[in-house]
Amino acid sequence: MSMNVQHARLMAWVQEIVELCQPKDIHWCDGSQAEYDHVMQLAVAGGMATPLKKRPNSFLFRSDPSDVARVEARTYISTPSKDEAGPTNNWIDPTELKQTMTGLYKGCMQGRTLYVIPFSMGPVDSPIAKIGIEITDSPYVVCNMHVMTRVGTTVIEKLGTDGEFIPCLHSIGAPLAPGQKDSSWPCAPIEQKYISHFPDENLIWSYGSGYGGNALLGKKCLALRIASAMAKREGWMAEHMLILRLTNPQGKQYHIAAAFPSACGKTNLAMLKPTIPGWKCECVGDDIAWIKIGPDGRPHAINPEAGFFGVAPGTSYESNPSAMDTLKENIIFTNVALTDDGDVWWEGMDGPKPAHAIDWKGRDWTPESTEPAAHANSRFTAPASQCPVICPDWEAPAGVVIDIFVFGGRRASVMPLVHEAYSWDHGVFMGATASSETTAANIGAVGNLRRDPFAMLPFCGYNMGDYFQHWLDMGDRFGSKAPRIFYVNWFRKSPEGKWLWPGFGDNSRVLKWMCERVDGKVGAVDTPIGRMPKPQDLDLSGLSIPEADLKELLRVDVQAWKNEVPDIAKHFAQFGDRLPARLRQQLDDLAKRLG
Ligand code: OXD
Ligand code: MN
Repeated sequence: MSMNVQHARLMAWVQEIVELCQPKDIHWCDGSQAEYDHVMQLAVAGGMATPLKKRPNSFLFRSDPSDVARVEARTYISTPSKDEAGPTNNWIDPTELKQTMTGLYKGCMQGRTLYVIPFSMGPVDSPIAKIGIEITDSPYVVCNMHVMTRVGTTVIEKLGTDGEFIPCLHSIGAPLAPGQKDSSWPCAPIEQKYISHFPDENLIWSYGSGYGGNALLGKKCLALRIASAMAKREGWMAEHMLILRLTNPQGKQYHIAAAFPSACGKTNLAMLKPTIPGWKCECVGDDIAWIKIGPDGRPHAINPEAGFFGVAPGTSYESNPSAMDTLKENIIFTNVALTDDGDVWWEGMDGPKPAHAIDWKGRDWTPESTEPAAHANSRFTAPASQCPVICPDWEAPAGVVIDIFVFGGRRASVMPLVHEAYSWDHGVFMGATASSETTAANIGAVGNLRRDPFAMLPFCGYNMGDYFQHWLDMGDRFGSKAPRIFYVNWFRKSPEGKWLWPGFGDNSRVLKWMCERVDGKVGAVDTPIGRMPKPQDLDLSGLSIPEADLKELLRVDVQAWKNEVPDIAKHFAQFGDRLPARLRQQLDDLAKRLG
């Protein structure tokens, strides 16, 4: 063992897993660059990773075509009763699930190295941070965890002899027989994949997938599903939110935390380049916020991650120049295309398409090909510290103080560009009823409308009805220090299918209106669905947007909203008694305002 581990419970757990999974070797991760280089070289030697000639210290992985996204249908919240997991989660009784998975784990690491990854979610010295230990048999996971979390010796030191940690067990589920040739992306078939959470024990067991949130267990499994259950018990919040700092021309800072479903532009918004003169945006995080009430009674947020696991397609100098500049070196790419000169390419990148490339399945690709070169959920894994607009306080142990919460989704119609909640309860109602057209981040149909409350539908580690109540309780505790709440939709289209709002850097115009609302400096009109800017309340200087488009963007389609009411009632009904009465009241109030 390369590290001095003095933690009896940790040692005992690792020993137990070694006996169960029967790996050929054990490697304790120290988090060093030398370790990263070594494990990456193993992946290169094994044919899993391709070094990129055009980007220093950067590598391309291609996953198995069956293992390309989070598998929500195979994701379980295993609480003692089904009711505790609630209607929006898959549930299996913990005893049964553990029995099934123990059967799968038996001998599953034969022929492979077992890596023990001590990691911190959040800066190691932050009082908001939590420690996890991931056991995995995937070199890809080791390298990604190095980038996405803080790994290594400092974490073991902080754990000491008896510190708390969240055990995260992961296996790709592909033992290697002696002499058997390994595949370039070993994994188990879909019916053997399990992404399981035992919130009562703060325990994660993942089997069969090597991809993203299924396998990098610090991210969705720990920092959202397990953390949300801990946060409910302990009185804080774990949210699927980006965090950004906006600074106005006078130097006043505002911190915004915004929740959007997967692949709705969170990374782009987090790194926004404002098109309005004098305003500056800095990124604190692009996916997850952990929020605690500080000594000042206000919400203090940290980004528990250390990197970005961003969707590649659509990322360009036009949509997100800061992300493009983040990606110049030290990057892991997964399922993008490889160009002939040894660079990466994906649909939506700037410039002309390459005349020839190797697609994400390893096949020849030309612009005439009928399939995309990069998978729609292909990703980059990038150190946050490389982002040119990373906030100087992104690792501040106390976090940043949130002024504004934003919810949103992808809707071609009905939802206007922006509206503001009348009250905290109304804001919670907006979050609880948020809806979006589905994307490629999950295996399943793309483009269907689904309610995705707080963008937490796949990530809430307990009964969503209780989660709504937790939001109401937190508002009561924040009192007058509660952030203001807004709802946005960048994706509204004309009846002909044209985007009505330019989006990207121009979203700063909407954020500016929010900041000025907080300061009481700008007007709004009361509408049945909330407070909205009049066209003159938005700073549209330098933007040429047809008046009719603006009118449509800010129009409340009363009939369409009347149609939403029964749909929301149906959505609420699934929570039965666990739906807070205060939210039912909000629905009644909305129906009344619509007339
Ligand atoms: C993500 C997701 O990867 O939400 O962040 O799917
Ligand atoms: Mn996400």
